[in-house]
Amino acid sequence: MQIINVNDSKMGGKKAFELIKEEIDAKKVNTLGLATGSTPISLYEEIRQSNLDFSNMTSINLDEYVGLSATNVQSYAYFMNENLFATKPFAHSYLPNGLATDATSECKRYDELIQNNPVDIQILGIGSNGHIGFNEPGTSFETQTHVVDLTESTINANKRFFSSINEVPKQAYSMGIKTIMAAKKIILMAYGENKAEAVRNMVKGPVTEDVPASILQQHNDTIIIVDKDASKFL
Ligand code: GLP
Repeated sequence: MQIINVNDSKMGGKKAFELIKEEIDAKKVNTLGLATGSTPISLYEEIRQSNLDFSNMTSINLDEYVGLSATNVQSYAYFMNENLFATKPFAHSYLPNGLATDATSECKRYDELIQNNPVDIQILGIGSNGHIGFNEPGTSFETQTHVVDLTESTINANKRFFSSINEVPKQAYSMGIKTIMAAKKIILMAYGENKAEAVRNMVKGPVTEDVPASILQQHNDTIIIVDKDASKFL
């Protein structure tokens, strides 16, 4: 794990952008693994303002809420379109289908997609309980794409994007931990004091399924970009 300290999320976004651009310029990227949430917003802003061209590349997102259509403003498909795809289209962009009628075949379809498009760089945020994607504490390190029952803390953390807590979906599709670990390079960003404990546990704690992000200690090309608040326990 390589740790990069930055002052704030704007600088973090710039740093992540530079790292991605370097790999793209070196022609090492066919598929980008993308994330949602507030954390990658500054990175997507940098990308939108750049001359990076994704028109020959594929993107695969980490997760999507069960039950939300791509046109629902709370869906991750909508978020990606607004923050990135509308300005920087990829040749192909994939997210789990929140409206799939058969969850098992949807997970299988997604795993096959990932197998056919191995992720070169995976962008990650981290939940305040140490989750990555939507892989909550206790998730087996062996999981591939699966349906997750969201924990109360994640539902609470994400309710800020919805008009009431009752509207926050209780389940999501998520790439599994094993899927995420298969990415060649991983860039995880964490900003703000409410991530400080999760960041400490991820970097300094034991590798345990209780802290899903701790598995990244065993990945051979992971970069963690943290601001001052998120790194205060390092
Ligand atoms: C959600 C997403 C994660 C994200 C996390 C943190 O649960 N599924 O991919 O990393 O929240 O979100 P934020 O970046 O808004 O703090």
